[in-house]
Amino acid sequence: MPTESPELMPEHLPAPIPHKADIREKIALGLALVLSTTFFTAALVASTNFGVQIPTCVTNVPPFTEGKIIESKNRGDKRIEVHAVAKMWLFDMGDDNAGELRIPEGCEVNLFLTSNDVVHGFHIEGKNVNLMAVPGAVNNLAIRFDKAGDYRVVCHEYCGVQHQAMAAVIKVLPDAEYNKLFEGQ
Ligand code: CUA
Repeated sequence: MPTESPELMPEHLPAPIPHKADIREKIALGLALVLSTTFFTAALVASTNFGVQIPTCVTNVPPFTEGKIIESKNRGDKRIEVHAVAKMWLFDMGDDNAGELRIPEGCEVNLFLTSNDVVHGFHIEGKNVNLMAVPGAVNNLAIRFDKAGDYRVVCHEYCGVQHQAMAAVIKVLPDAEYNKLFEGQ
């Protein structure tokens, strides 16, 4: 069995220098605490008072590669689950018309969003919705559309040469017009 050389034995090590935090270290830590408390409070106030919804990344939907629309069995429920995939440079929302999701007025969209390549943004104009599409992760938010109209979806995270062209539209249709889509089915 090898014997340790005497100079490496603990009793021969110099006594540890007692650590005293530098004043700059204390300031940096204090500022970090103030900033994170401010951000947390701002998010809390925005979500409780100003209708800003905070998405979650904790879902039981595993990452997917194809867009999909899952309608409730009863169309009158007006609840639709949408699996959306951001990819260079479009949003695949499982719709037949590329980048155009059609839903009825008063519909609640339970949106699950992921990305096939790089990080993209998902902002719905006029809806206070701001999500990130992250490869390997699924972000989730439920959004209600009470007013008919066209809601543009834009990528607001620089993702490559066609970033500025990366968009889609959510068409919120009056009931009669929406039901016409299913005539003859
Ligand atoms: Cu996708 Cu910018």
